[in-house]
Amino acid sequence: MRTLLVFAHPRRSSLTGHVADAFAAAAAANGHAFEWADLARERFDPVLREADEPEWDDPDKIYSEEVRCEMRRVERNEATVMVFPVYWWSVPALLKGWIDRVWNNGWAYGARRFPQRRVWMIGVAGGTESGFAKRGYDNAMRTQLDVGVLDYCGVAERRLELLYGSIEGEPYPAEILAKAQALGQAF
Ligand SMILES: Cc1cc2nc3c(=O)[nH]c(=O)nc-3n(C[C@H](O)[C@H](O)[C@H](O)COP(=O)(O)O)c2cc1C
Repeated sequence: MRTLLVFAHPRRSSLTGHVADAFAAAAAANGHAFEWADLARERFDPVLREADEPEWDDPDKIYSEEVRCEMRRVERNEATVMVFPVYWWSVPALLKGWIDRVWNNGWAYGARRFPQRRVWMIGVAGGTESGFAKRGYDNAMRTQLDVGVLDYCGVAERRLELLYGSIEGEPYPAEILAKAQALGQAF
């Protein structure tokens, strides 16, 4: 499957970068092909400005060239995988802004649905699984991202995976990379 890998970490050499590599390598072994969208390196602007504001009565609004370019990048692939570090129990502003701007009215929701059937989100978290569960952060992220974004935009094959313990957990990072590899095999 032709897949857009949206990478939303400031540093390609980060653990999150290694997670993306492990996932993509394992999936590529099963025949999947990846086009990388390294948002930080490409200096994607995450701020939604006037040109990309939805017009609720106009599902055919022409958005900015930068957003149309991102839409085309999605459209020429069959699936999307977003790989990101968890920041403040959510996605980084860089990825939030990519969703704000690109997953826009008339293209991802409203008169039309997101143009791909499969979208996965893989978050790398500093905290432990039990720490997330204790305060309900895992469910909060699931509601926000899996239900609020992916399901809302009609993505049939959706998955949100959190890889815990990048800071607090043990053993670091072998277990996280093994999980990323297993996800790639399951893709
Ligand atoms: C601004 C910021 C906010 C963060 N917020 C959280 C958080 O809410 N929960 C969490 O578990 N880890 C949090 N972390 C830790 C990141 O998730 C951690 O850096 C990442 O999992 C490790 O991957 P990296 O080495 O690739 O950055 C935060 C890190 C930063 C820089």
